[in-house]
Amino acid sequence: MARKCIIAGNWKMNLLPEEAFELVEELKHNAQPKAGLEVALFPQAPLIPFLAEWTAESLLSYGAQTSSQHNSGAHTGDLSPQLLQALGCRYALAGHSERRADHAESDQEVAAQAKAQIEAGLKSIVCVGETLEEREANQHLDKIKAQVQAVYAAVDPELWGEVVLAYEPIWAIGTGKTASPEQAEEIHKFIRNLLEEIQGIQMSQATPILYGGSVKGANAAELLSQADIDGVLVGGSSLKADEFLQIIQAY
Ligand code: PGA
Repeated sequence: MARKCIIAGNWKMNLLPEEAFELVEELKHNAQPKAGLEVALFPQAPLIPFLAEWTAESLLSYGAQTSSQHNSGAHTGDLSPQLLQALGCRYALAGHSERRADHAESDQEVAAQAKAQIEAGLKSIVCVGETLEEREANQHLDKIKAQVQAVYAAVDPELWGEVVLAYEPIWAIGTGKTASPEQAEEIHKFIRNLLEEIQGIQMSQATPILYGGSVKGANAAELLSQADIDGVLVGGSSLKADEFLQIIQAY
């Protein structure tokens, strides 16, 4: 089954409005639409209404970097998935390793966020991945398995089609050290097999699995050519128009 390719730019806590505007303009004018390709940008939340305006009638979609497991109420500082949906977001990330580390988000909290995002009408991109210590101790597969299982235990099976997974080895994020295409493919295949056990072959084949961690123009094509890599989640290289355009061109 042909899966869509998603190229996602996670801007993290970067870019002022003028910088973001210029970047979106460059992408809008230079990214070539291709069948089966979706390009999504993840700005800081206050920029989302601007993105709605700037990306109108372009191939670019946008989403949020995180959101609450609640839609409304007494949760000061949190971000409602329902509001994000109303502001035109198509996606939201859940469980990025920086959120898991900085805000001690557990697998269960991440799964609850994904559930709330999907029930609010967003597609949830759930990030999973191991630390270097876990890989060296050969615990990485157990860690990833627990992270993936938590999501599917929380989300209604009828909505599993709204889940996108992103494998992001923590040792490769922002370090310049990318997993080799073979290393990444091995884990993607492991996740795909796990999905088959949980959901059956059809859903497993339909679920996009993205790779993230030091993706750049120079390595994107090789990563994207792997059978089970259905897109990339890009941090640092998504802040520079030229570099991000090269990644988009790599598909
Ligand atoms: P990086 O970040 O591309 O800067 O390594 C990826 C991510 O954190 O999603």
